[in-house]
Amino acid sequence: MDFKIAVLSGDGIGPEIIEQAKKVIRAAGKRYNHSFIFTHGLVGAIAIDTTGNPLPEETLDLCKNSDAVLFGAIGDPKYDNNPSAKVRPEQGLLAMRKELGLYANVRPVSTFQSLIDKSPLKKEIVQGVDILMIRELTGGIYFGKPQGRSEDGNTAYDSCVYSKYEVERVVRLACEYAMKRSKKVTVVDKANVLATSRLWRETATAIAKEYSEITMDFMFVDNAAMQLIQWPGRFDVIVTENMFGDILSDEASVLTGSLGLLPSASVGLFTSVFEPIHGSYPQAAGKNIANPLGTILSVAMMFDLAFKLKNEADAIRSAVEKSIEADFVTEDLNRANPRSTSQVGEWIADYILKS
Ligand code: IPM
Ligand code: MN
Repeated sequence: MDFKIAVLSGDGIGPEIIEQAKKVIRAAGKRYNHSFIFTHGLVGAIAIDTTGNPLPEETLDLCKNSDAVLFGAIGDPKYDNNPSAKVRPEQGLLAMRKELGLYANVRPVSTFQSLIDKSPLKKEIVQGVDILMIRELTGGIYFGKPQGRSEDGNTAYDSCVYSKYEVERVVRLACEYAMKRSKKVTVVDKANVLATSRLWRETATAIAKEYSEITMDFMFVDNAAMQLIQWPGRFDVIVTENMFGDILSDEASVLTGSLGLLPSASVGLFTSVFEPIHGSYPQAAGKNIANPLGTILSVAMMFDLAFKLKNEADAIRSAVEKSIEADFVTEDLNRANPRSTSQVGEWIADYILKS
């Protein structure tokens, strides 16, 4: 079958890691008889520099007409250090989430046995951790209106707004995932303070009734932040609103000690976006040292979710595991004898072809 993939490499190390992901996709295509059509689009700082717009209309159309979007990273220090910049790369990302209806960000966090010593936590605590963090991505305080400043400039405000429908669809997605796992969902909120959180609890409780086999529990976000460090093994599927999810998913991502390794999928109404969870790492751009595994594992999620090609996805994941076992990895995982970004990409592509 032919699949259309929109490729948005973005900024910093984006282009280098995406190149490795493409090698892996081509290898899986060759090995399993699929063909892929890659079309590149601009997003982020590079899009601002070229067109003035962090998410040009053309890129959006490209995404809407594709079976999946492969995304690198966005962000550039020249914008981070300039608070008065009128247009920022991040606006491209937020606009893309809104326009493509990317309502849920799905981030699996699990440990790789051979990397367990890299975790900042004790081995006994991270051993066997396997969490699926689901973050609502198009609502809440990120998008709520009104937002702005008072006329005298001395007061600023953001609004956290959720509709029942927005909560329902993401909680339902969490329950669907949980049905394929251990049938346990933790809803994280701040229902002791926030009205939106009370709507979340009420709505999630009603959805849970549709899934009689699922055990749902509720946890305040401050407690969840603590328990993620103290006893991460207690969690399975976590679902939460946009900003809590932003914070907790970063926290969860370091449990395994290898940020460069974690993939994500943003599930959308029109198409879905697959991207590593790390940023654009501008200090490493062009040096061929960045870890491509998070992007390659995002490709595995793409095969699973967007193309429904489970065997191919498993083959990609096991090739990644083998590269780690063989210690054929970039400098973040092996200081003494590091391989380059492109060497790791080639190793994995070759492994898939030969497997
Ligand atoms: C993320 C990022 C974004 C967010 C920023 C870059 C707008 O931190 O994808 O988690 O806050 O959602
Ligand atoms: Mn974030």
